Amino acid sequence: MQFPLYKISRNMHQGNRTTSTEFILLGFFRQDDHQNLLFVLFLGMYLVTVVGNGLIILAISLDTYLHTPMYLFLANLSFADISSISNSVPKMLMNIQTKSQSISYESCITQMYFSIVFVVTDNLLLGTMAYDRFVAICHPLNYSTLMQPKFCILLTVIPWLLSNIIALTHTLLLIQLPFCDHNTLSHFFCDLAPLLKLSCSDTIINELVLFIVGLSVIIVPFALIFFSYVCIIRAVLRISSTQGKWKAFSTCGSHLTVVLLFYGTIVGVYFFPSSTHPEDTDKIGAVLFTVVTPMMNPFIYSLRNKDMKGALRKLINSKSSSL
Ligand SMILES: *[C@@H]1O[C@H](CO)[C@@H](O)[C@H](O)[C@H]1NC(C)=O
Repeated sequence: MQFPLYKISRNMHQGNRTTSTEFILLGFFRQDDHQNLLFVLFLGMYLVTVVGNGLIILAISLDTYLHTPMYLFLANLSFADISSISNSVPKMLMNIQTKSQSISYESCITQMYFSIVFVVTDNLLLGTMAYDRFVAICHPLNYSTLMQPKFCILLTVIPWLLSNIIALTHTLLLIQLPFCDHNTLSHFFCDLAPLLKLSCSDTIINELVLFIVGLSVIIVPFALIFFSYVCIIRAVLRISSTQGKWKAFSTCGSHLTVVLLFYGTIVGVYFFPSSTHPEDTDKIGAVLFTVVTPMMNPFIYSLRNKDMKGALRKLINSKSSSL
């Protein structure tokens, strides 16, 4: 998410008010020599992400033992991760291969819309998952009454619905903007912040909406996660057996790792932006949100979680025995 106001410098060229019909995506480097390396690197990350998250979705949907709220939320997260990376990386890889840098206006706006949808959904799902762990550990006796199937569906529908409303708001505001003859994005996909920078009219309303919505989308799940963990840690410390303590920590450990990765990225990129290359900060942030975090999620969950490991092993064994 790119929200801080200071990152968006306004272009005030009021002269040439023609509308761009396409945008140019410069990608990562201007030089040609890194392109092959970049292609291999991003293709690798893309495949790892799709296979890893795909296995998680498959393992969860095939193993009825994992049809609990926590794993259904996780499957939703994996789905958002696959979608997020598929929205930006394949087009980037294609542009490297064909040595073309253009993207049509419509594709660019569509890509921007979905990049907002998936990052916001990811963020809100982390909040949902924190709430789930909070109920499981702090109110274990009420878990089945509090986490009714209908309520769980609501908890997954809200992130998807809200993220689409937010993306629609940003998109409707963005398409009002004229781009004059500025159509070159120093980025590897159509992201909102670089697009706003490109506009030749006043973008103050867009920035304000971006700031308020972006901040609340980050702060609300973060507060939820924070309070869940305060309660969880207090509950865990009250458990007298070491084994019980370890079990409680290990069920939350994977979630906490993802959260730290996600918010660590936000803090690192947006609260300590490098003042010398603000464009690079945008790109690094985008890579972390749309590529690295989605890629890491399956590793964090499947390597740290015994049930997940068991389900994956079952899945792989049944596949290899049926071949
Ligand atoms: C997302 O969660 C809902 C309800 O919690 C579940 O029915 C659905 O199957 C999940 N989606 C995926 C892709 O697993």
